[in-house]
Amino acid sequence: MKAIEITSYGAPEVLRVAERPDPVAGAGELLIRVAASGVNRPDVLQRKGHYPVPPGASDLPGLEVAGEIVSGDAAALAEAGFKVGDRVCALIAGGGYAELCVAPVAQCLPVPKGWSDIEAASLPETFFTVWSNVFERGRLQKGETLLIQGGSSGIGVTAIQIAKALGATVIVTAGSDDKCDACRKLGADHAINYRTSDFVEEAKKLTGGKGVDVVLDMVAGDYVAREIECLAEDGRLVIIAVQGGVKSEINAGLVLRRRLTITGSTLRPRPVAFKGAIAKALREKVWPLLESGAIKPVIHSTFAAAGEPSGAAQAHALMESNQHIGKIVLTW
Ligand SMILES: NC(=O)c1ccc[n+]([C@@H]2O[C@H](COP(=O)([O-])OP(=O)(O)OC[C@H]3O[C@@H](n4cnc5c(N)ncnc54)[C@H](OP(=O)(O)O)[C@@H]3O)[C@@H](O)[C@H]2O)c1
Repeated sequence: MKAIEITSYGAPEVLRVAERPDPVAGAGELLIRVAASGVNRPDVLQRKGHYPVPPGASDLPGLEVAGEIVSGDAAALAEAGFKVGDRVCALIAGGGYAELCVAPVAQCLPVPKGWSDIEAASLPETFFTVWSNVFERGRLQKGETLLIQGGSSGIGVTAIQIAKALGATVIVTAGSDDKCDACRKLGADHAINYRTSDFVEEAKKLTGGKGVDVVLDMVAGDYVAREIECLAEDGRLVIIAVQGGVKSEINAGLVLRRRLTITGSTLRPRPVAFKGAIAKALREKVWPLLESGAIKPVIHSTFAAAGEPSGAAQAHALMESNQHIGKIVLTW
């Protein structure tokens, strides 16, 4: 099969098309003929050598795919209600930038009715991450307020749409007025340009001084102290990335006076059973919203993976330029 390799750590051009042996599905797994592969910021970190591959995972980049089931563990397929030829999208721990990809059956979901493979490939990584962090760890409830840092990111456009569909008020930050407009169009109630306004002041103003109930943070660093300032009583801060650094000096007094929870997680190294439980919850609570049109795909660009040079390099260059709104997808 053709695949995109990280030939050495470095600039996007280190991503090159290579021939690799076809992978084989083992127990509890299925093999997918990949039509489209989603691109995520963690792929960029991996290409630069800052995100080690978890033990047992493919060294190829790519955390999500969509395509057709070619073969698989018959018992596991039957138990999940899948058969050879079905279109699925899958969360994987690596190996998604390839024409063929093995995935645990438990981490696969049907391509939602009415969605293309390109659209479905944009789903797993952000939907699993947002569900697990905002709704499970962050316990966001109907009627509460969520502050999303980076509202126009792949993660952000997913978090805006699920949170709105489930009855929360959504405030986002983004780095330009255009990105703020795009977030409002997706349903965000308020968007703050973090380059021209102070999100702490704005979030307090927008909540009548109460503060927000949950913050989804992909920045960390000095944002952590500021996020603690704008959390309401019993507020939850969920950290999913440290783009702004790992250290922050916080006011611990606020944490105890307001009974705050500071948590976080990283999805990729978690076991199949954990990811399978998220897949079940998504299928039950979120997939109907995809099929009804309440939640829409947000695809910024697609690139042909096997082109010369590989579209994967262009996709990563675009992601690093931060010009995109929503998802970037590779096609095969
Ligand atoms: N923990 C996990 O399990 C997990 C899983 C998946 C992804 N992630 C992380 O989640 C983040 C988003 O991933 P993605 O694939 O959606 O990437 P992406 O589309 O490239 O998004 C990165 C976002 O970070 C925002 N950002 C950077 N600095 C900011 C700041 N100072 N204030 C507010 N926003 C800021 C950017 O906003 P502007 O362009 O507006 O500046 C951009 O929207 C990445 O850091 C990724 O590593 C974590």
